[in-house]
Amino acid sequence: MTMTAITDTDPAKLYNIDTLEPYFTEGQLQERIQAMAADINKRYAGVDRLVIISILKGSFMFTSDLVRHLDMPCQIEFVRLASYGAGTKSTGEVKPVDLTLPDLNDKNVLIVEDIIDTGLTLHFFMHYLKSLHKIRTLRLAVLLDKKEARSEEIPKFPVDFVGFEVANEFLVGYGLDYAGLYRNLPYVAILPEDQTVPATPTQ
Ligand code: IMP
Ligand code: MG
Repeated sequence: MTMTAITDTDPAKLYNIDTLEPYFTEGQLQERIQAMAADINKRYAGVDRLVIISILKGSFMFTSDLVRHLDMPCQIEFVRLASYGAGTKSTGEVKPVDLTLPDLNDKNVLIVEDIIDTGLTLHFFMHYLKSLHKIRTLRLAVLLDKKEARSEEIPKFPVDFVGFEVANEFLVGYGLDYAGLYRNLPYVAILPEDQTVPATPTQ
């Protein structure tokens, strides 16, 4: 394996997939996602409809793999939130890019998120949903949980369905990006520090 240090700030030059070692392989992810889906099927056995809210962009792959294993009628909605800009640290602020949703009163809602880090994104979003809708049940399915990274300033909340607990490292692949790239990898990898550049604001 060759390690190529990338120092240029041109995002196109960051795309150096050959140097990335899987942290969770495609097979490990798929196996765990099937087990999560089995838990979700059990928990919602008999419900007439489950509203899935997928948080874009990071959750697009996880959502599409998870929902194929769910056996109740699913309504699939998307919102788009941003908190990372082009860096590897949360900006500490959630930017709602698109929060368009139908009426969720009296619905069973499952939020699907790729990764929880400080907890800010999910705290913000659950608070937002509860302030607008009288939801029947609201639960969370999160593929990766960086438990150690939770901010003390954010009230604790349970994550109902977790894929894997992960170290406090910056991860890419399987929907997760760095500077908008790497989302297409079918596995999750740790981004080596020599592949990061100082954060530059993105749109
Ligand atoms: P939080 O708001 O700090 O909990 O961060 C959650 C959001 O930040 C997720 O929806 C991801 O989009 C992004 N994020 C957190 N950690 C990582 C990471 O290691 N790689 C890529 N994106 C991440
Ligand atoms: Mg995300």
